[in-house]
Amino acid sequence: MKRAAVILAAGQGTRMKSALPKVMHKVAGRPILGHVIAAVRGAGVERIVVVTAPDAEAVRAYVAAEGAQSAIQKEQLGTGHAAACAAPLLKDFPGTLIVTYGDHPLFTSATFEASFAAREKAGMAIVAFRSDSIAYGRVIAGADGMLARIVEYRDASAAEKTVKLCNAGVMAAEAKSFFRWAAKLENGNSQGEYYLTDVPSLAKKDGVACAVVEAEESETMGVNSRAELAAAEAEMQKRLRAAALDAGVGMVAPETVFLSYDTELEADVSIGPYVVFGPGVTVKSGAEIRAFSHLEGATVEKSAVIGPYARLRPGAHIGEEAHIGNFVEVKETRVEKGAKANHLTYLGDARVGAGANIGAGTVTCNYDGFFKYHTDIGAGAFIGSNTALVAPVTVEDGAYIGAGSTVAKDKVAKDSLAVVRGPRNDVAGWAKEFRARKSAEKAAKAKTKRK
Ligand code: UD1
Ligand code: CA
Repeated sequence: MKRAAVILAAGQGTRMKSALPKVMHKVAGRPILGHVIAAVRGAGVERIVVVTAPDAEAVRAYVAAEGAQSAIQKEQLGTGHAAACAAPLLKDFPGTLIVTYGDHPLFTSATFEASFAAREKAGMAIVAFRSDSIAYGRVIAGADGMLARIVEYRDASAAEKTVKLCNAGVMAAEAKSFFRWAAKLENGNSQGEYYLTDVPSLAKKDGVACAVVEAEESETMGVNSRAELAAAEAEMQKRLRAAALDAGVGMVAPETVFLSYDTELEADVSIGPYVVFGPGVTVKSGAEIRAFSHLEGATVEKSAVIGPYARLRPGAHIGEEAHIGNFVEVKETRVEKGAKANHLTYLGDARVGAGANIGAGTVTCNYDGFFKYHTDIGAGAFIGSNTALVAPVTVEDGAYIGAGSTVAKDKVAKDSLAVVRGPRNDVAGWAKEFRARKSAEKAAKAKTKRK
């Protein structure tokens, strides 16, 4: 059966105290809303409508870029009213609809899948979890284990308030019926809102039962504040680390390693403490990422060694068995097989050929304030320490650059030596005389001060 999703995201998110819309804040390198979209897609959802506030242009742009549709809720009249705003786009959808929240990034595809499956068997389904928090509506189950009703905590009786089963906010129903029920919602409750949670009661009147799918509380966390955003990040990191360990990645201190939603680590990659992965990183088997390294938009091939204290920026491609050492920054650069840049170096907009050696303090001067230029270093080249390569510049295969050189001309020929240095000037005994003169001056000055 076909599957669609309505994601509610018209809430104001004022508690974030941010100019950025709440659902655009990132968890593991991706907007909160992006996690929700990915999770519903993982459960086979083919159409997605995100309900947004009128001024949420940035959210709608993101939704469109993700290949989903947006609806606008003009006034925030409650979760039921918000879901009904998707009707113009989905009321004729021939299949099951799931409603979930745009600010709940931790629901898994498995939970959505279970909700779809339960709804296809029972008629409708909701997701519940166990909690004591007064923030949640209570799930009142009937004798048959099916849902009797959902009651908001503030509208609940004393007996209902003691129920621990809570409404997670996910609901699955047949699409056409859902919009028929949503149109019939009334707002005669303590908040004067149209509650999504009243839909199962309307369904029941039509003879449609509602199953209750239980989920872990860790999946049901919503983000309303910076503190909750940090808590969601912590939970997501826990999952990503567990998945990496399961896949055969070695981590001595997983709790100090930060991953992105899309980090790809093969089995037998080994990661030291305090390593941060921004989005877009792939690391192949046998590679080692040592402590305190920061990687983003980079690929690390088999058995390469990165760090400690290395920074790989977007477009860094580190070849097999290559070494990128401490305080080395690499951006838009291909470092080919077995090449080494072990200390204090900037490689930007460059290629470093196989087996080349880049000495400490080498800098590719790639930018003149207006444009970026390429540096090409051939296979087996040797760049002496403290070399400035003023791009565009080519060092051909096997060439040597003497330490301290500023290489500005366009090409150093294959297997040759280039040294660019001021002449050395030795003055015998100069230092000894200098010290004697300065010591005498200092002593004389101290004497006049005492007088
Ligand atoms: C809702 C549920 C409650 C459940 C809880 C789980 C209702 C009436 N209550 O309560 O049973 O335990 O979620 O977290 O559904 N939104 C809109 N437009 C609106 C109102 C809300 O888009 O007019 C969106 C919000 O952006 C948010 C979501 O719907 O993403 C939930 O709204 P919220 O006000 O947080 O619902 P709760 O009162 O927490
Ligand atoms: Ca809420």
